Amino acid sequence: MKVLAIVLAGGQGKRMKSKRYKVLHEVAGKPMVGHVLRTVQEANSERTVVIVGHGAEAVKTYLGDQAEYALQEQQLGTGHAVQQAEALLAGEEGSTIVICGDTPLVRSETINAVLELHRSSGAAATILTASFDDPTGYGRVIRGEDGAVVRIVEQKDCSPEEARVQEINTGTYIFDNRKLFAALAKVTNENSQGEYYLTDVVGIFRNDGETVQAYCTSDLAEAIGVNDRVALAEAEALMRARINRKHLLEGVTLIDAASTYIEADVRIGADTVIYPGTVLRGSTVIGEDCVIGPNADIQNAEIGNGVTIKYSVIAESVVGDDSSVGPYANLRPGSKLGVGCKIGDFVELKNASLDDGSKVSHLSYVGDAIVGKDVNIGCGAITVNYDGFNKFVTEIGDNAFVGSNVNLIAPVKLGDGAYVVAGSTITHDVPSGDLAIARERQVNKPGYADKIRARAKAKKANNKK
Ligand code: UD1
Ligand code: CA
Repeated sequence: MKVLAIVLAGGQGKRMKSKRYKVLHEVAGKPMVGHVLRTVQEANSERTVVIVGHGAEAVKTYLGDQAEYALQEQQLGTGHAVQQAEALLAGEEGSTIVICGDTPLVRSETINAVLELHRSSGAAATILTASFDDPTGYGRVIRGEDGAVVRIVEQKDCSPEEARVQEINTGTYIFDNRKLFAALAKVTNENSQGEYYLTDVVGIFRNDGETVQAYCTSDLAEAIGVNDRVALAEAEALMRARINRKHLLEGVTLIDAASTYIEADVRIGADTVIYPGTVLRGSTVIGEDCVIGPNADIQNAEIGNGVTIKYSVIAESVVGDDSSVGPYANLRPGSKLGVGCKIGDFVELKNASLDDGSKVSHLSYVGDAIVGKDVNIGCGAITVNYDGFNKFVTEIGDNAFVGSNVNLIAPVKLGDGAYVVAGSTITHDVPSGDLAIARERQVNKPGYADKIRARAKAKKANNKK
């Protein structure tokens, strides 16, 4: 049977006290609604409608064509929100997942289990529930004497007795699509919040003689609905633990999982070892047999196999196999290292490519540069790429040698095998195989060191008088 999905993302999220729209707050580096969308995609939803309201444009911009959208102009409650999908989905025959955009930890495995129960029992609705020691804030699942679900009561509408019920509504459900919209038409806003509650369809189904099932998850993380920053922090910690566990099971060693921060979409190869204080973000991909950290901050980067990265920052860059970076290197966007390169301490790269085997071992800035194979850039050498207005490119050929403390004033080109002696300021191209020297000749004055000391000493004595 066809699987459809409705994601509720129209509320404002006042309790977040934020300029940012609630479902766009990130958990493990990914907006909450992004996690939810991935989950329904994994559950094979054929059509997904996201209900947008507050921040509609921002949500649409983020999700793009991954979903269809229905605008809820006024936020009159979750039932009203689901009704906005009616124009798009009313004609469909199938099972509809309804899920909140603020429950980022629901897993597709669980949704599949709920779907399974829903189908095998022929229920009109199947609710994903959980049992909380402290159910405060959530809707309570009220069961009859026979154990069947009778209705859901919101916290604010609970009698003292109902408030003691620990089984809560996670806000994820499977509905028979046709029956869902038929029941929603009967929902009223006669409750303490004056809202049209989606949860009221449960009671409506019961009155109509339909069955309502509940699937109680034992993974309490799944039930977290993020309404404020306290819950956001909890969701973050739970998601991080889940992500770390996945990598551990896939053969990645985390020396201290508690101080390792890996965002949701990062991929890491087997036998890579990650030391504490490491933050791996965005779309970063790391190969096998790498040693990462301590203290590496890597964002949207592609790291090959057998790479070592220590105490360094890397963003939007590529590091080839068997290269090493750091300690204390900064690879800014557009850096690209080939195989077996070495970037040492206090080296900054920006928009610079180094071909295989090239080294920048210490204290250098290489920006807007194209560097060939097996090039050695000495300590303190810099590409002077900026005149205060424009950026210029430095090109360095294969096997070139750039001595220590060299300034390469771009635009400038060193040919293959060129050799620039230390301390030179290079303003003109150096042809292949040539040696360039661009510095003052040294002058030695015999015995002058003692003379200058004597003179300085006399001056000091004179000053004291
Ligand atoms: C809801 C459930 C509650 C459940 C809890 C689980 C109802 C009435 N209550 O409560 O039983 O325990 O989730 O987390 O459904 N939204 C809209 N339009 C609206 C109102 C809300 O799109 O008019 C969206 C929100 O953006 C949010 C989701 O629906 O993503 C849930 O709304 P929220 O106000 O957070 O509901 P809760 O009070 O948490
Ligand atoms: Ca909520």
